[in-house]
Amino acid sequence: MSFTLKTLIETMEKNPALAGADRLRQRLDMLDELDACLMRAGDASGPADVALRHRAEAIRTQWEALNAACYDFMRDEIRQGVAPSGLLRWMKDAAFEPGDAYDFRDELLSGVLAFDEPDAGIAELPSEMVFYQPTPARHIVDMIERTGLGDGDVLVDLGSGLGHVPLLAAICTGARCIGIELEQAYVQAAQRCAQTLHLGRVRFVQQDARVADVSEGTVFYLYTPFVGSVLSTVLDTLRQEASARDIRICTFGPCTATVAKQSWLKAVDPLKPGRIAVFRAS
Ligand SMILES: C[S@@+](CC[C@H](N)C(=O)[O-])C[C@H]1O[C@@H](n2cnc3c(N)ncnc32)[C@H](O)[C@@H]1O
Repeated sequence: MSFTLKTLIETMEKNPALAGADRLRQRLDMLDELDACLMRAGDASGPADVALRHRAEAIRTQWEALNAACYDFMRDEIRQGVAPSGLLRWMKDAAFEPGDAYDFRDELLSGVLAFDEPDAGIAELPSEMVFYQPTPARHIVDMIERTGLGDGDVLVDLGSGLGHVPLLAAICTGARCIGIELEQAYVQAAQRCAQTLHLGRVRFVQQDARVADVSEGTVFYLYTPFVGSVLSTVLDTLRQEASARDIRICTFGPCTATVAKQSWLKAVDPLKPGRIAVFRAS
């Protein structure tokens, strides 16, 4: 029997204040800790272990229902266009941490966006194209703030996956947002989410970023969707766009090093490891 697990379950069961809507973050953190404790406890099968696992499942079910009610409330706010939404308030409830780890904000964003995720039929990508992984939510908020993304902007996420970046940007700002993604199943899931949340300023296009029309974009985002010649081709297109108007290019992950070497681009502020970089044509 794990005594840490026992102590955690007791804390969760005996503290009615944790059931409040204002304790969403604590519940998310403690549910995360519960998973870690259960993992460490393994599958020990003594009667005390089994009883503890049952209690863990009961409190998890109860707290997930409480959290779902909070997500429903935020989804209603988003549909009604309430600004700033409760979602944004929670997104700013913790200090920014660099790096690619996920935290309670990602669980929260998943709960609010509630994708019906495709679980099969995802096509394998050609070489130089990178599989789907979402940007941690705090980085999206960080990018929105640092670019001052607003009404006059059009954010284009090149390789948008399920669409976390355009969807959260459309919820939090007045910008128009476009996601360009090769995988049809991701595009469909993102579109369904936008429709359900009545987000009229965001749209998703199923296309190879190399041939996509990016002429409307003012701020471009790339979470290393591709590398090598695919990245070079897309950067050539962006360079042409930059010769016609002022654009910014935001990057996360390994593609930042390649983008930083482009002589036509200059970082807006000093590059920091594990943080989105923002570039402007020099
Ligand atoms: C690392 S994920 C980033 C997802 C999303 N931008 C985010 O930050 O949450 C890269 C995405 O790019 C997509 N992708 C890869 N190559 C692409 C291409 N040539 N055109 C459009 N999308 C592409 C992948 O399918 C994947 O969903």
